[in-house]
Amino acid sequence: MTHRIVLLPGDGIGPEVTDAARAVLEAVAHAYGLSLAFESHDIGGCAIDTDGDPFPAATAQACADADAVFLGAVGGPKWDGGGPRPEAGLLALRKTLGAFANLRPITLFPGLEHLSPLKEDRVAGTDMLIVRELTGGIYFGDKVEGDETASDLCSYSRREVERISRIAFEAARRRSGRVTSVDKANVLATSRLWRNTVVALRDAEYPDVELDHVLVDAMAMKLIERPSAFDVILTENMFGDILSDEASVIAGSIGLAPSASLSESHGGLYEPIHGSAPDIAGQGKANPVGAILSAAMLLRHALKANDAATAIEQAVADCLSEGISTADAGGTASTDEVKSAVCDNIAKTH
Ligand code: NAD
Ligand code: IPM
Ligand code: MN
Repeated sequence: MTHRIVLLPGDGIGPEVTDAARAVLEAVAHAYGLSLAFESHDIGGCAIDTDGDPFPAATAQACADADAVFLGAVGGPKWDGGGPRPEAGLLALRKTLGAFANLRPITLFPGLEHLSPLKEDRVAGTDMLIVRELTGGIYFGDKVEGDETASDLCSYSRREVERISRIAFEAARRRSGRVTSVDKANVLATSRLWRNTVVALRDAEYPDVELDHVLVDAMAMKLIERPSAFDVILTENMFGDILSDEASVIAGSIGLAPSASLSESHGGLYEPIHGSAPDIAGQGKANPVGAILSAAMLLRHALKANDAATAIEQAVADCLSEGISTADAGGTASTDEVKSAVCDNIAKTH
């Protein structure tokens, strides 16, 4: 059986890290006898340049028909001057696929403690999973875009909160059995609905899971104070966006962090959490690890190819422990050198 994977390289460093993820998928497919068929399409700024639309109909159709979608990154200063925004393409993609459950694991690789901006004793043992709601909240509410006033409506339904909470509670049962729900219930109505819904679901269906609540401003502080205290972090769309960038750098670099965005009706969307990094695009400096680990998440979640996913994760960990990494992660290797080293490790160990 051939698995159809749509690649959306996008803008900036997107194509560079997507090339690495594809090479690693091909290496692991060869080693594990998987049949993968790749198709590439435009999204974001490059799609605006060719189609005038950040999410062209042909891209939307190909993604809907695929078994899984992999995205590099979108955006950049070229499209900041008015007109359609590249980021709108990514948001439309997430909505179209129903990719509501964004899993952002933040793991400190053994031996890389010194890369953290935090003291080594504080960062040791950091291993958390941020479960970010991805298709609701302030990102998708009605907007008023005026010169004098502007507004973005933040709304959540009980159903939206329940389904993302279920993902977090299930993950907690496979991990340490603890969920920290992050909200702003002292100010926001959506956060009070969020908290009530999370508590009701836990009481009704997950009484074995330990649940606590932290306000988002305090969470920003606690994350740097004691990152290893957290396991599963459940939060809404915008808070999850912000806290995951913060958490990523605690574990060394945003370039290392992967994500999976799961849907009830599709194999899902897989993308590193970083953006198009215009400051380093085209220089061979981009860390491909976040993208490569996103490819591993694709294999695990969309294709149920757990052994192949684990092989990628092990090959990446081996490279990092051998000191083969890009500058953001303390090394001197180029994007392509990391890519080749991961592929070689897969071939060697299989
Ligand atoms: P960014 O994540 O692109 O970059 C932030 C910093 O991290 C930069 O210094 C960059 O060089 C560095 N960095 C990011 N990824 C790296 C990697 N793989 N290797 C080494 N260093 C890396 O965030 P930004 O600068 O705020 O945003 C740039 C553009 O990307 C904006 O247009 C934004 O909207 C877009 N963006 C897209 C996505 C996405 O497509 N999923 C995510 C975030 C931001
Ligand atoms: C991310 C990005 C996106 C988000 C942008 C580019 C729309 O920052 O994937 O974290 O805010 O979700
Ligand atoms: Mn982000």
